[in-house]
Amino acid sequence: MAAELIRASLLSFSAPPAEGVAEAVQHTEDGVLAMRDGRIEFAASSAAFVAQGGPLDACEDLRPGIALPGFIDAHVHFPQVDIIGSFGTQLLDWLERYAFPAETAFADADFAAAQAERFMDLCFAHGTTSALVFTTVHAAATEALFRAALGRGARLIAGKVHADRNVPKELADSADAVAGCARLIERWHGAGRLSYAVTPRFAIASSPAQLSAAGALLQRYPEVLLHTHLSENAAEIALTRKLFPAARDYVDVYDCHGLVGERSVFAHGVHLTERELERLAERGATVVFCPSSNLFLGSGLLDVAKLQRHGVRLAVGSDVGAGTSLSMLKTLADGYRVGQLQGTSWHPLDAFHAITLGNAQALALGDRIGRLAPGYEADVVVLNARRNPALSRRLERVDTLQERLFAYMMLGDERDIERTYVGGRLAWRQAGAN
Ligand code: GUN
Ligand code: ZN
Repeated sequence: MAAELIRASLLSFSAPPAEGVAEAVQHTEDGVLAMRDGRIEFAASSAAFVAQGGPLDACEDLRPGIALPGFIDAHVHFPQVDIIGSFGTQLLDWLERYAFPAETAFADADFAAAQAERFMDLCFAHGTTSALVFTTVHAAATEALFRAALGRGARLIAGKVHADRNVPKELADSADAVAGCARLIERWHGAGRLSYAVTPRFAIASSPAQLSAAGALLQRYPEVLLHTHLSENAAEIALTRKLFPAARDYVDVYDCHGLVGERSVFAHGVHLTERELERLAERGATVVFCPSSNLFLGSGLLDVAKLQRHGVRLAVGSDVGAGTSLSMLKTLADGYRVGQLQGTSWHPLDAFHAITLGNAQALALGDRIGRLAPGYEADVVVLNARRNPALSRRLERVDTLQERLFAYMMLGDERDIERTYVGGRLAWRQAGAN
């Protein structure tokens, strides 16, 4: 297949910028990106491209656009996109009033299939090329999402939700249903670019027997992820303690059932104790920072610096529909605000690393996605602020890469997603873009 060639400013990371590794930030103001057969073939300066005999006039010129690895959302609920911005509640009431009714509608397989296609389109329009996704309790809805992602060649991780108590009966399965997911894992894990995550909703919604079944499934399929919620909201934590009186704390509830390990991804972790942080770090588990959701539901401010001091692995997620946007740029803006309220200012280079290579590594995909480097899968987003007057004007006044990125981080949104490439193929372009 002929290579897809674009000319743009290129930005990618090989390590967290804060760690001071040489070459951690790879930035080329005038670069060429060549994508062939789903992978990146060349990513360097246009001068280097010409020097190796590359045809510069065959490149589509997207300058002054900035090409980055496609954004990765480490925690999002596909059935909740239509309830973003629902008024007036905190977590447990919000679930009852908005999330559960929305998810109940996904029992209708046709509706679920249409929503799955729509969700993929929305992700690409927001520059997100990969995500770790909560579906619903319905196997057919889960398969609909996998089918939609497979059809688009996207790298997606998802799993059927498990819940056998404290949810409406329409959203409940059983402890036995967990073992039944082996069928879904066999069918979808490794199909195309898809992988599976065992997905108990949260401790409140699962009996000990169901959590044990999830642990057993993970033992049987050690390469799949565990994806759930942890320590998001005070009332949730209190109820969890009541339901699991023998557990030392919330982390221990999952730990006792074999659910805390290197492939475990826990959304939120806002109120974790020292012991819980130590245990998560010891086990190499990941906490997903979901700032937009935590602000919207009033759940609390995650102390990212404290988690980093404890050596807990971190990722970043939108948590739509409690999060208020699928845009990872807007998620970063909220993350910055959460840091500011606690005396830390999230450096834009660290922030953009987080939603690219950082999230890829947290999802055990750091050798495949998250970088613009030869051999990596060609998931790419091109930013251009031309439809965003406030950002365009701000960008006229920046001098450094850091300032430019910070402007995108604070003022950017889906209007600034000029192009999205998935597996080397154009998956989204702004109407009217060149
Ligand atoms: N905890 C259990 N379910 C959910 C959910 O759907 N959203 C959020 N934010 N937290 C949860
Ligand atoms: Zn969530």
